Amino acid sequence: MVYPKMRLICICLLVLGVLCLYFSMNNLSPFKEQSFVYKKEYGNFLQLPDIDCRQNPPFLVLLVTSSHKQLAARMAIRQTWGKERIVKGKRLKTFFLLGTTSSQDEMRAVAQEGQLHGDIIQKDFVDVYYNLTLKTMMGIEWVHHFCPQAAFVMKTDSDMFVNVYYLTELLLKKNRTTRFFTGYLKLNEFPIRKKFSKWFVSKFEYPWDRYPPFCSGTGYVFSSDVASQVYNVSESVPYIKLEDVFVGLCLEKLKIRLEALHSKQTFFPEGLRFSICRFRKIVACHFIKSQELLLYWQALENSREEDCPPV
Ligand SMILES: *[C@@H]1O[C@H](CO)[C@@H](O)[C@H](O)[C@H]1NC(C)=O
Ligand SMILES: *[C@@H]1O[C@H](CO)[C@@H](O)[C@H](O)[C@H]1NC(C)=O
Ligand SMILES: *[C@@H]1O[C@H](CO)[C@@H](O)[C@H](O)[C@H]1NC(C)=O
Repeated sequence: MVYPKMRLICICLLVLGVLCLYFSMNNLSPFKEQSFVYKKEYGNFLQLPDIDCRQNPPFLVLLVTSSHKQLAARMAIRQTWGKERIVKGKRLKTFFLLGTTSSQDEMRAVAQEGQLHGDIIQKDFVDVYYNLTLKTMMGIEWVHHFCPQAAFVMKTDSDMFVNVYYLTELLLKKNRTTRFFTGYLKLNEFPIRKKFSKWFVSKFEYPWDRYPPFCSGTGYVFSSDVASQVYNVSESVPYIKLEDVFVGLCLEKLKIRLEALHSKQTFFPEGLRFSICRFRKIVACHFIKSQELLLYWQALENSREEDCPPV
């Protein structure tokens, strides 16, 4: 009576093995994802910034995705492009978007930092790269609920250089007020199916063969009405962990077309070598370390526009 039992166990193990192989090959692990739509979690902010947008509304709100350990980057941004300022008579305000970590020390430090600077927006979700969609949606919810009076919003990252002067100038020139969305346009992108890529997306997570048009998540800018509209449709598009693609899906549903801000390239998600005259005429550049940001900013502030050749 021993053999049939052994055979049964062997068959069971074999079936289990095949199933494991199947699930891992197709990345169909049923345990990995809990939901496939974004679930709006109304309110419940852990930290809200010091601003009343009804009084003296900002022209441009800059929302910077950041994490607990990036204090140096936040401090550099506060001293440079993120400093509250008036450009061409328009008020600019910068806020940082954070989630939560399991480190009590880091949580406490960020709570104190928020009290000191009044510029942190925080909610209760685990602050990891693959939760960037939640972080971005928190910023969009914040604009929708607390600052719809702003004219424009920029969502960007903490390793960016942003030329807020040139951005303001171009936005004023563009003279758009609603349903406006711009940045580095990605109009023909496909899901990356290579397992080890940072941007790997399984067919289970996103079964379609191409992405909707979207703007690189390193920096995009939109009229503030778009925040409310995106927030409104966010539960009715498929959830994807790539925040820029997720926003693209919302825009597609809303039939909001992406537009270039300028006839020349002004957003540089792949980075760009610094020169004073070059950086005067760009809006955003990726891969900027805190030290570089401080140096570049000072160089720009200490130079005169007239010293650059006209373009
Ligand atoms: C994202 O945050 C949610 C809510 O805190 C958490 O349940 C989930 O595990 C996080 N995602 C990842 C990939 O860690
Ligand atoms: C901006 O657009 C409005 C109409 O949408 C128009 O009345 C106004 O003259 C424009 N301003 C400039 C500076 O082009
Ligand atoms: C949200 O969607 C509903 C239904 O589609 C629509 O009636 C409402 O005007 C939308 N609100 C915004 C702010 O877009």
